[in-house]
Amino acid sequence: MTSESMQKIFDLKLVPLVVLDDATDAVPMAKALVEGGIPVAEVTFRTDAAADVIRAMAEQVPEILVGAGTVHTVAQAQTAVEAGAKFIVTPGFQPDVVRWCVEHQMDIVPGTAVPSDIEQAISFGLSVCKFFPAEAYGGVKTLKALKGPYADIRFMPTGGVSLDNMNDYLALSNVVAIGGSFMTPSAAVKAKDWAKVTEACRTALTKVQG
Ligand code: 3PG
Repeated sequence: MTSESMQKIFDLKLVPLVVLDDATDAVPMAKALVEGGIPVAEVTFRTDAAADVIRAMAEQVPEILVGAGTVHTVAQAQTAVEAGAKFIVTPGFQPDVVRWCVEHQMDIVPGTAVPSDIEQAISFGLSVCKFFPAEAYGGVKTLKALKGPYADIRFMPTGGVSLDNMNDYLALSNVVAIGGSFMTPSAAVKAKDWAKVTEACRTALTKVQG
């Protein structure tokens, strides 16, 4: 059964990637995403601030669906969930993290790039996988080729997905959403220009809605 969190992602079709060094930026970032019409954030464990960012967003901006990205370990998954994360995304297929999430009824979108990764996801009963790094691993062409043997698997491509190519991905029947940092431009984040983040989200949303 599709959870409320995953349904929200499927409805929005867009998952902005959030990389913040400073947890005091969490609330303005979350508000910028909400204002831009994309109330979802994949907060990456690429910075030490990740758990604090998740906690601040979850506690102070309840409209936003907050998840954790770039999760490599069970400890990070636990920390993320304790902080308020509602879904976990991994860049590669990490069986321990996937097992922990499945056992704790936590939504998990595991990273897959090749058929062997997808086979592992299937063995855990999963049907939605991240496809990463999408552009480097053949992009739309690869996803089309995966449709034959993996007709029941749906993907969330990230990695090189941009305003220019996102609709090519979203046009595929096995793509449920796309993720990316283009909705949270790093220059805008660095400058704390939250209006620019809102603008980037609105631009993406408008393009998705055609
Ligand atoms: C990810 O972790 O999903 C990717 O690094 C996002 O890739 P992008 O920066 O090309 O959007």
